[in-house]
Amino acid sequence: MMNQHMSRARKPGERTGNLDATVFSGSRRAALKCRRRIWKMAALAAAFSLFALYLAWLEAYDAAPRHNDDAPLAEAAAQGAALSAGTGAAPAGDATGTGPDLVKRGEYLARVGDCIACHTSDKGRPFAGGLAIHTPFGTIYTPNITPDPDTGIGHWTDADFMRAMHEGIGKEGERLYPAFPYVEYTKVTERDVQAIRAYLNTVVPVHYTPPANNLSFPFNLRWLMFFWNLLNFDEGRFVPDPKQSAEWNRGAYLVQGLAHCEECHTPRNFTQGLKTSERFSGAIQAGWHAYNITPHKMSGIGGWTDQDVTSYLSTGVAPGRANAAGPMADVVADSTQYLDSEDLRSIATYLRTVKPIDKGESRARAGWGAPASDVVALRGTKINGANGAQLFLANCATCHNWTGEGVGASAPGAYPSLIHNTVSGASDANNLAMVILHGVSRTTKVADVLMPAFDRDLSNEQIAAITNYVTKRFGNPQSTVSVEQIGNLRATPQ
Ligand code: HEC
Ligand code: HEC
Ligand code: HEC
Repeated sequence: MMNQHMSRARKPGERTGNLDATVFSGSRRAALKCRRRIWKMAALAAAFSLFALYLAWLEAYDAAPRHNDDAPLAEAAAQGAALSAGTGAAPAGDATGTGPDLVKRGEYLARVGDCIACHTSDKGRPFAGGLAIHTPFGTIYTPNITPDPDTGIGHWTDADFMRAMHEGIGKEGERLYPAFPYVEYTKVTERDVQAIRAYLNTVVPVHYTPPANNLSFPFNLRWLMFFWNLLNFDEGRFVPDPKQSAEWNRGAYLVQGLAHCEECHTPRNFTQGLKTSERFSGAIQAGWHAYNITPHKMSGIGGWTDQDVTSYLSTGVAPGRANAAGPMADVVADSTQYLDSEDLRSIATYLRTVKPIDKGESRARAGWGAPASDVVALRGTKINGANGAQLFLANCATCHNWTGEGVGASAPGAYPSLIHNTVSGASDANNLAMVILHGVSRTTKVADVLMPAFDRDLSNEQIAAITNYVTKRFGNPQSTVSVEQIGNLRATPQ
């Protein structure tokens, strides 16, 4: 933190001065080592530039014939029911792109793909874009995908749309940033992309131009995504596995493709690509821990029943285990609650078979905790600015009960038990702290769930104290958080 501040405040020229001073006052060995490192870096940079030139040359030959290629549409029409057999998709109403059945199917698929979540910044202007997506390289604003011809995608051909979804390439042939999950959408069948397009053609056109991206150099250069794609992107449709059931294939198709669960649940490599060897083993998303959802018994969700998974995805609650807050609450509210029960079951079936990944946890997240039984002792404690027990009684116990057992058991909209809850039982207290900072807000068909945010009322010290009290008393006692970590989580853009 400190270093970052200093480097930003440094004036041009000052840096060289400092470096020279170190070199002259330091030992000869250090100076030599430093020079050797500079040469090594220069050689590497030269080699990389040559490689880059070679690849750019290769691409120039490769990309040209694809422009304005209408073949995918013809293919889509020809594929017909053959594809839906592999992916469980319902037969389309018609292939012209206008039939009501096709539009209805497209609406459902757009829900699965959760297009609305990223392409809406103002609920009154759905799909008109403008949502800020924070990346390590700067801010990207989502485009308008309503059929408005000037500011939206009204003037895009179906082939342009198909190419964006399958190849991550925009209307003018420019490379799109992978904040748009084309890494997953490339798996979606032509027929399903066509249905989504048919649906988007029917949404209200909104005349609105989102703000321009604010990315630092060199990430503002779109053509650089060519290298990113080379390392991290495999273009191609989902290939059904004939050895597996239709249900499994449907689940794999949805999870790996439109539902893009990996965007949040798979860790990333240093170029921000998905680490495919550790699929679904958990990652940090906007300060939240998108947990390990592999079938590992301790580190993942191996102990969950299919019913737990389907209930979690359709309502945001797996009773007695987990609740969906933060980015997952949005996924449930905008996307998975709309999935039909067959699709939810197939997702559960598929997740059960992905490679289990052991993160060294000694007990399942939902396996920790016992109710408190010492409220009298707590009340007797002297009040002190950051006494976790006292703060818990004052701020949380009205809803979650002083025993931590919650109120309302498993009824929809209940105040959940903090015992046997994945957030208090996780080996890191990230999500617990984030839930206290930002609360929970999730609107579904079954309930309007609301836990207040405490970011304005409680200091970092107080939130750290409550978090540590909750993990120690009701959850995983090894999980602790520092005041500084709360500060960092508070500063993470949501
Ligand atoms: C996780 C966030 C996210 C989701 C989910 C998402 N998009 Fe996007 N989308 C983006 C971002 C960010 C861009 C802009 C990328 C860029 O500027 O390079 C984008 C760009 C696009 C573009 C190109 C538009 C243009 O003007 O260049 C299209 C088309 C598109 N998205 C369609 C969809 C559809 C259809 C869905 C749902 C199936 C969807 N998106 C879901 C984030 C998302
Ligand atoms: C936008 C990011 C994001 C996407 C996309 C996403 N998740 Fe999550 N998921 C999270 C976060 C964050 C949590 C932790 C939520 C919490 O603690 O309240 C989570 C939690 C979960 C849990 C509960 C784990 C536990 O132990 O409590 C399951 C199950 C889950 N996700 C499944 C899925 C599936 C299946 C998909 C795809 C359909 C998906 N998620 C897509 C971010 C995401
Ligand atoms: C006004 C009632 C209310 C208060 C006060 C309240 N909560 Fe909650 N809490 C809720 C509701 C409602 C939920 C979400 C239930 C759901 O997901 O269905 C929730 C969820 C939670 C969860 C589970 C989140 C997850 O992702 O699994 C935790 C942990 C939690 N609260 C801790 C706390 C702590 C600690 C405090 C005090 C700082 C607190 N709550 C104060 C109502 C409250």
